[in-house]
Amino acid sequence: MKILIIGNGWLGNRCHEEWPDSIITDKIISTKNDVLELLKTHQPDAVLNAAGVVGKPNVDWCETHQLETIQGNTILPVIIAEACKEMNVYLLHMGTGCIFYGDSPHGGPWKETDAANPVAVYSRAKYAADLVLSTLENVGIARIRMPIDDRKHRANMIDKLVAYPKVVDVNNSATVVPDMILAFRQLLEKKASGIFHCTNPGAITHREILALYNKYVEPIAEKEWISPEELVDSGLACKKRSNNIMQSTNLEKFGIHMRPIKEAVEEAMKNYKK
Ligand SMILES: NC(=O)c1ccc[n+]([C@@H]2O[C@H](COP(=O)([O-])OP(=O)(O)OC[C@H]3O[C@@H](n4cnc5c(N)ncnc54)[C@H](OP(=O)(O)O)[C@@H]3O)[C@@H](O)[C@H]2O)c1
Repeated sequence: MKILIIGNGWLGNRCHEEWPDSIITDKIISTKNDVLELLKTHQPDAVLNAAGVVGKPNVDWCETHQLETIQGNTILPVIIAEACKEMNVYLLHMGTGCIFYGDSPHGGPWKETDAANPVAVYSRAKYAADLVLSTLENVGIARIRMPIDDRKHRANMIDKLVAYPKVVDVNNSATVVPDMILAFRQLLEKKASGIFHCTNPGAITHREILALYNKYVEPIAEKEWISPEELVDSGLACKKRSNNIMQSTNLEKFGIHMRPIKEAVEEAMKNYKK
């Protein structure tokens, strides 16, 4: 199966490393014709959209660069979807679970069908794409959260938590990257349409992640634990961060299983040490 990966960044490259039959492009896309040219050149069976604007050094950048954020996270996915539709090619688009803030209105974990309540510019731009792309039959939306990888990267949640002197201790859904890559592959092969919560079942706290780091990688100095409100009040973040727990029903419907979060993070941590 020939998979074209758009978005030559962290997660696009992680998928490309694991899929020998994939092609990754670093072409900057501005128009539908840019995508049509890629599709005509590479003739893929499916496309993974791993391109987006996540903000550097962090997502707060998006708060002051609204139009770039909308361009990369709302307009770009629509352009890619339009070209894929025209060429009858399946598209798996990477979304985020950071569109859900706090507890769901029904009290349970957030479902794929729940209306989201995004606050930050990044989250709003990502959700806008989900709202429109989810109306298309040839598109799957794979929402991930707080990616935790088994190797170093500045965006890996392990590296981020280790670097922060002050850490918020919250319980969250998360995505372990090797499991995400397996789930994405199956979604692409099944050409599954709809919204998928590609998070490992269960939830994990930042304190538990750091305890696993302490156990398997190296001892670290005790952190200062702060509340989500203190994170913003102390100026460490300019906007409230999303914390939430998500449930994944649609993946199961396609027979796709991700390991329980604590088991997957423990193994990722052992491999991170290696
Ligand atoms: N990392 C996370 O914590 C996280 C969490 C949830 C969801 N996601 C989603 O996962 C996807 C991949 O994220 P990532 O962490 O791999 O981000 P990343 O490392 O920044 O990769 C995104 C890539 O997209 C490229 N890009 C932006 N606009 C483009 C355009 N018009 N045409 C072609 N390429 C373009 C970027 O190029 P430049 O660097 O040159 O701008 C970058 O190489 C994004 O959709 C993101 O929203 C990420």
